[in-house]
Amino acid sequence: MLRSHTCGELRITHVDQTVRLCGWVQKIRDKGHMLWIDLRDRYGVTQLIFEEGFVDAGLLALARSLGREFVLKTEGKVVERVAKNDKMPTGDVEIRVTSVEILNPAKLPPFLIEDDTDGGDDLRMKYRYLDLRRNVVRKNLELRHRMAQQTRAYLDGQGFIEVETPVLIKSTPEGARDFVVPSRMNPGEFYALPQSPQTFKQLLMVSGFDRYFQIVKCFRDEDLRADRQPEFTQIDCEMSFITQEDILQMFEGLVRHLFRQVKGIELGPVPRMTYADAMRQYGNDKPDTRFEMRFVALKDLTASADRPVREGIASPSLREGGDTSAGAGEVDLVGGKGFGVFDEASLVVGICAKGCADYTRKQVDELTDFVRRPQIGAKGLVYVRCNPDGTLKSSVDKFYSEADLRKWAAAMGAQPGDLLLILAGEAGKTRKALSELRLEMGERLGLRDKNVYATLWVLDFPLLEYGEAEQRWFAMHHPFTSPKPEDISLLELDPGAVRANAYDIVINGVEVGGGSIRIYRRDLQETMFSVLGFTPEEAQRQFGFLMEAFEFGAPPHGGIAFGFDRLCSLFGGADSIRDFIAFPKNNSGRDVMIDTPSEISGAQLEELKISVRK
Ligand code: AMO
Repeated sequence: MLRSHTCGELRITHVDQTVRLCGWVQKIRDKGHMLWIDLRDRYGVTQLIFEEGFVDAGLLALARSLGREFVLKTEGKVVERVAKNDKMPTGDVEIRVTSVEILNPAKLPPFLIEDDTDGGDDLRMKYRYLDLRRNVVRKNLELRHRMAQQTRAYLDGQGFIEVETPVLIKSTPEGARDFVVPSRMNPGEFYALPQSPQTFKQLLMVSGFDRYFQIVKCFRDEDLRADRQPEFTQIDCEMSFITQEDILQMFEGLVRHLFRQVKGIELGPVPRMTYADAMRQYGNDKPDTRFEMRFVALKDLTASADRPVREGIASPSLREGGDTSAGAGEVDLVGGKGFGVFDEASLVVGICAKGCADYTRKQVDELTDFVRRPQIGAKGLVYVRCNPDGTLKSSVDKFYSEADLRKWAAAMGAQPGDLLLILAGEAGKTRKALSELRLEMGERLGLRDKNVYATLWVLDFPLLEYGEAEQRWFAMHHPFTSPKPEDISLLELDPGAVRANAYDIVINGVEVGGGSIRIYRRDLQETMFSVLGFTPEEAQRQFGFLMEAFEFGAPPHGGIAFGFDRLCSLFGGADSIRDFIAFPKNNSGRDVMIDTPSEISGAQLEELKISVRK
């Protein structure tokens, strides 16, 4: 070994020992007769001291010639520091250096390699290998490592077998867009990179593996956001001979294990909520339940919050009344007073912001601007101040008496001092907009503390959602998800009313995992494909292998996949998953470090029999 110790290791007990350290120059401080170097490696920082009279002139001159990020091998004696630094684990000692070898000089780095860097995002991504030298980024990857190890430990302990599934697979029309890979040996034909190992894990159940998992790369060509990367990692799991309850217990167990082992947090039981209730109470199928501020409808003529929405458009339903879940019913506390916006709306719904009655005009205007932004799309915001003296004042006083407002305040559980924020319009869009406003208020009121964790199972998702543009039904989760047995008879009659044995696990408003109980019989799978608009021939061509497998003794099975990057970023208290991926892509899907995607040569294209038109 070039080194006897790491840069994070030496303590007062090592005083008088001769040690060899290797690492990078973090910082040089030159006081003329004395010079210090902070030497850094993955484990920490140790201070080297070069003092006139203790080191020969040549060594001091050499030390003076060093620059940041030079790679050194040094030897010296551990001594007790005069001025100790209790912020550093090695802060009691320093090394009186007797020799320095420059293993490699370094160009001046393009940004400071320190916790608070001066490097912008683009620069840090271009030199990601330097960014990864920074403590904060390295710690994220160390957390990720621990999470992966603990995941394996838990699942192995529960009898799961890790099996690798192929990366070159078949393109299928459902789900997100595929990344495709041309096949040289089969000109004009393409592989697809897996969006998930879904069909393979189901085939492994047919093979009798019973409990499978894999920490696996998945690829999706979709629009990117802070919590989405084109290639990301799942903890992918599947089990046979189970009920939904077994899956919920098993994977609640995994989450609990990770919180305990990695964060030292004892998690209580994970609460459960139906999709319908989540939509009604939070306007969102992944509610942030760190805070309440639930929706209260002042008028609801739709009473169909459980209807799936694809791109903001509510799907039609044939079922009487359209709703099956508890708590819904037609209400109207706002109609008939001549206020057109409320009279024409199918939904008038609000939240109660505790203690916000003293919001200034400017603050309320900011909120109005917030909901009017195109990405949120509300036309306006109605507010009611519940003044501390018991009076009520609203932005619609022209239409509503104080007695009217009092009814709203009572329905919304408001106290003097609270502010009611109310939106109105088409149900789907209004819920979505109010959900954004709720999150914004949560943020403003400091209710979204990153050190507080609120977990939630969202259950009973609809099986299907209607695509207005495409004029057809889509699987809300994926086409292999089983309808609830009691809803199977509705599949062809009223597809929008069919609920699925599908579940998501949500932490702090982030969907960290999702799964379902699967179809395992050919006839039901065929019906499902037919509802999704596949001809029998198409279904056979795309998924014949799976349906045939179902005919060779497929056990009942189900599973779940966690977004591993999302889980890590939540545990690390960050918003973006990029910080937890060693070499992430930017928002245009580019890796600016290796500069890809990039063109390939004419010869390569020729070989692949691909012609590119620009
Ligand atoms: P699903 O599509 O819900 O289910 O994906 C599972 C989890 O993966 C994470 N995730 C992502 N993370 C980062 N970037 C992305 N682009 C991205 N897309 C998804 C989310 C999500 O909850 N085969 C099914 C699972 C199953 O049914 O067992 C599946 O892939 O956290």
